[in-house]
Amino acid sequence: MAAQLNIVLGMSIISVLLMLEVEAQAGTFDVVAKFGAKADGKTDLNKPLLDAFKAACASSSAAKVLIPKGNFLLSGAKFQGPCKAPIEFLVQGTVMAPPDVKAFKEPIWVNFYKIENFKMSGGGVFDGQGAQAYKREGCVKNDYCKHLPISVRFDYLTNAMIQDITSKDSKQFHVNVLGCKNITLERFTVSAPKDSPNTNGIHIGRSNGVTVLNTKIETGNDCVSFGDGAENVLIKGITCGPGHGISIGSLGLYQNEQAVKGIKVSQCALSNTKNGVRIKTWPNSYPGAASDLHFEDISMTNVNFPIIVDQKYCPWNRCNLKEESKIKLSNISFKNIRGTSTQSEAVKIICSATFPCQNVELDNIDITATGSKGPAVSICTNVKPKLSGKQNPPACTGKVPPTKRMF
Ligand SMILES: *[C@@H]1O[C@H](CO)[C@@H](O)[C@H](O)[C@H]1NC(C)=O
Ligand SMILES: *[C@@H]1O[C@H](CO)[C@@H](O)[C@H](O)[C@H]1NC(C)=O
Repeated sequence: MAAQLNIVLGMSIISVLLMLEVEAQAGTFDVVAKFGAKADGKTDLNKPLLDAFKAACASSSAAKVLIPKGNFLLSGAKFQGPCKAPIEFLVQGTVMAPPDVKAFKEPIWVNFYKIENFKMSGGGVFDGQGAQAYKREGCVKNDYCKHLPISVRFDYLTNAMIQDITSKDSKQFHVNVLGCKNITLERFTVSAPKDSPNTNGIHIGRSNGVTVLNTKIETGNDCVSFGDGAENVLIKGITCGPGHGISIGSLGLYQNEQAVKGIKVSQCALSNTKNGVRIKTWPNSYPGAASDLHFEDISMTNVNFPIIVDQKYCPWNRCNLKEESKIKLSNISFKNIRGTSTQSEAVKIICSATFPCQNVELDNIDITATGSKGPAVSICTNVKPKLSGKQNPPACTGKVPPTKRMF
């Protein structure tokens, strides 16, 4: 009798355990365990991953796509919502792009598209395997540079959280955020060689409510860059370098660009970068506006040009520098910015003569030039900044250089 009861009890405990197990896994779609992916670094993950995504996306309760540890080759993939319920990508492994630059017909590798309540985490890596792309051999003749893929595109996501993910050696930009509402990237890591062309870390355009927190970026171009329509953005706790700094623009090259509004960059450390914090607009531009741009608590170590507003941005000298920029810049502050520059032009605020910058504030600036080019200077055109706190170099006392390329 007792023995029988024990057996019954034992069996029901086992079945409860089994049920719990099934329930815990019901929402997990493991690309290896269930969809036949191979972590051999050469079998294309495309089909298993898309199958797993489709199943997860159709689930009526929250679901997870799992890429477990291991190396996976992925030719490319677009994950298109909407999904029935919140969806998470748990990326533990390393997902690698084909190294061949000619494998891409469009500038896209991994694309998350129109998904709501999206999450990605897991400590995994997106490796763009960019070495071949950086050489640019035959780029002009074969024209493949246009197609060099951005590694990870977040397009039209709403309420998204990306945590503990690395982007490495992208062929072009690492991450592009477009058309998103309420997206956070946290403890993200970007790494690529210092001389890798066009490898911006995180580019943000036409999105509202973007937060980037505690992220380390080492790359060959801007660490964080903003395109038109970036609104309500907080960038906090970023280390940047090598790289080209944190940059708003360039703005005004295209017609009908949306205004940039409400960008806050705070508690960042830049070292050995070309620029520090920068706003750039084209001369002879289309009309546009950028306002409410705030940079505070930023340390600069060996940065070529720490603070730049450049409304005569003209790379390759292919613009009409005689015509002024029609981008209106207003409500801009630089607060508690300290450290060292390698060039003497530590602070440069070159605004448009047609639309002088309005309401610019310099508060507690302390930058020392360490190079051989002379002491730090501060140059201002078409702007009368409001000053408070320490001003080293003395604000707006430097001579305006003759029209030339500004970095
Ligand atoms: C923003 O998205 C997060 C998920 O990443 C969510 O928890 C939060 O509620 C969202 N905020 C709003 C205002 O919808
Ligand atoms: C700039 O700030 C002032 C005062 O806070 C505000 O009235 C004005 O609308 C702002 N300008 C823009 C273009 O946002």
